[in-house]
Amino acid sequence: MKNVLVIYYTQTGQLSSAVKATLLPLENDPEVTLHFEQLKPVKAYPYPWSYMEFFDVFPETVHGIPCELQPFSFDKEKNYDLVVLAYQPWFLSICIPINSFLQSESAKKVLNGKPVVTVIACRNMWLSAQEKMKAQLLKLNAKLVGNITFVDKSANLISLITVLAFVLGGVKDKFLGIFPKYGVNENDLKIAPTYGLPVLKSIKTDNYNFLQDDLVKAGAITIRPNLMIMEGRGKVLFPLYANYISKKGPSGNPKRRTRVRIFGIVLPTGILILSPIITIISHLAPLIAPKKIQKEINYFSQNSLR
Ligand SMILES: Cc1cc2nc3c(=O)[nH]c(=O)nc-3n(C[C@H](O)[C@H](O)[C@H](O)COP(=O)(O)O)c2cc1C
Repeated sequence: MKNVLVIYYTQTGQLSSAVKATLLPLENDPEVTLHFEQLKPVKAYPYPWSYMEFFDVFPETVHGIPCELQPFSFDKEKNYDLVVLAYQPWFLSICIPINSFLQSESAKKVLNGKPVVTVIACRNMWLSAQEKMKAQLLKLNAKLVGNITFVDKSANLISLITVLAFVLGGVKDKFLGIFPKYGVNENDLKIAPTYGLPVLKSIKTDNYNFLQDDLVKAGAITIRPNLMIMEGRGKVLFPLYANYISKKGPSGNPKRRTRVRIFGIVLPTGILILSPIITIISHLAPLIAPKKIQKEINYFSQNSLR
């Protein structure tokens, strides 16, 4: 019997539906037992978010400051064969609940020496968060053997509108009846089990050497050059602005409201202005530096940390 621990956090159920659909082949196999552990912060994050609450979690998310989690139900002494970590990026970083788990004593125990598969469901920017994940897993002596991603396939500006309607307005269907539904859709859920098949093969043979290659072939990784370039900018600027806000006090401190509010205006405006420019650059970049772009895509498609 193979035992798999699945750690996940979800607010609206998008990520849990994606990870459960992915793991269907394992769920249906009589030789595999899955233990699903949904992380629950003691003080739940709101859904839908108010504008201030949403942008106020930015500094703590970027700095990786943990929140308190409710007790876990899994057996931390158990020798799991595989751990699946399913998470959302928040502000190009690991979302606070999953980051809090990674900093817990239980994570130290349960992840030590273990193969790990990450499952990400997000708008479209996960590269920097996954770099942070790689670093955290290395610290915990865990081995990242696979990464599966679910991204919103709409154009960047369309998904900027639909994600804001989704997180701030609670709009789960088509925004205004004309925009595409945000996030994980029916088609993603249909394809998801095909990502689970190579995971099942690996767990049964105890061989994870070819898992990521198989996942890439199955289409589990989507990397768009324009978003890769854009994320590179955000990755540099976010820590600077997170520090600037944090100087005014911790989460919820009224003294930092003005700086949070400015961020809430500058970020969407910045994406709005930069997105078309970067899309043009990204079409030219493969012509000017084809090898460099392909090298970056190859790097982010695999699991080691440079
Ligand atoms: C505070 C916050 C920040 C987010 N930042 C990002 C981000 O940097 N990149 C991204 O692709 N999606 C981002 N998202 C979208 C989430 O990754 C995810 O799609 C959404 O929270 C729905 O997940 P759930 O339904 O499983 O709760 C963010 C969402 C929240 C709430």
